[in-house]
Amino acid sequence: MDFKQHIKEVADYPKEGISFKDITSLMQDGEVYKKSVDELVAYARERGAELIAGPEARGFVVGCPAAYALELGFVPVRKEGKLPRETVRVSYGLEYGTDILTMHKDSIKPGQQVVILDDLLATGGTIEATIKMIEQLGGVVAGIGFLIELDGLGGRERLEGYDIFSLIRYED
Ligand code: PRP
Ligand code: MG
Repeated sequence: MDFKQHIKEVADYPKEGISFKDITSLMQDGEVYKKSVDELVAYARERGAELIAGPEARGFVVGCPAAYALELGFVPVRKEGKLPRETVRVSYGLEYGTDILTMHKDSIKPGQQVVILDDLLATGGTIEATIKMIEQLGGVVAGIGFLIELDGLGGRERLEGYDIFSLIRYED
């Protein structure tokens, strides 16, 4: 299946010069959405996932259905202030300023094989922060899967040493 044709590219969004990759067009087609998640499920299975983790919000779109299909638990990685119990936190760089991601301290068992799923890899900042927390909690990052990978923003290089899978790649 040609997944790329189901992604809408929106020029100059959210600001001039950015070509936004809109996954809502893929999600709203039931067959395409299912098949794209199926690919991430196959990847996670192949990597021996024992747990799926995904950063809010778009990481939930792919991570939750994949965890359900694999009959594995799902761990939400959330922006600060959203998780009610004790958390670990990591601040990460955005284009302007920083943000903080958190995970519940008891979300991972030591040695657990965790596959991270998200919609898109750009600079890799979100996933780098997620990896730091998983490792701090004693988890092993067994692989990282995306619907979309943007080349040229340094994401893959930043995550060097980790296994990365992406369904669709863009060179711009
Ligand atoms: C987007 C996207 C990825 C991240 C990729 O999330 O969903 O999670 O950016 O960028 P990076 O590789 O440079 O970190 P965003 O923070 O916009 O939030 P959302 O998922 O809540 O829409
Ligand atoms: Mg996101």
